[in-house]
Amino acid sequence: MQPEGHDIELSVNGVQYRRAVEARMLLSDFLRHELMLAGTHVGCEQGVCGACTILLDGAPVRSCLMFAVQAGGHDLFTVEGLIGASGELNPLQQAMHEHHGLQCGYCTPGILMTMTAFLKQNPDPSELELREALSGNLCRCTGYQNIVDAMLKAAEMMRAAAP
Ligand code: FES
Ligand code: FES
Repeated sequence: MQPEGHDIELSVNGVQYRRAVEARMLLSDFLRHELMLAGTHVGCEQGVCGACTILLDGAPVRSCLMFAVQAGGHDLFTVEGLIGASGELNPLQQAMHEHHGLQCGYCTPGILMTMTAFLKQNPDPSELELREALSGNLCRCTGYQNIVDAMLKAAEMMRAAAP
């Protein structure tokens, strides 16, 4: 017997979607497999690694720890939403690129989303504050120094561009 679907409506990166989803479907799977937004990565699927981090109403959440039905009625923002209208990298992406803040890139979307929320809240963080904010995102390969350097640079670029 086909499991019953639950109708949900939600906005992702400013686009409105309506879908019927199974109650057990994880939000990370919904984004990746239903909406084909595979930039949200899945690592541990138990809330530890941070690879699946997205913004829900502006706050970073682990999409592997939520069901898709719980996201109904909310505004989501994923890594795909960071790119500019003409395809240009945003300051966080640009700084990651310039400071070699990634190798395999698996952790990168989660880090970018965590930092998007953090730098909005704290545009001029100390290195220690930034490291604390990053502590929920694990990287297996780069080592954190370049990521920290990149994010401090991104903060500087955004402050310089602020009106
Ligand atoms: Fe969600 Fe690791 S996949 S925290
Ligand atoms: Fe490979 Fe972070 S760049 S896990």
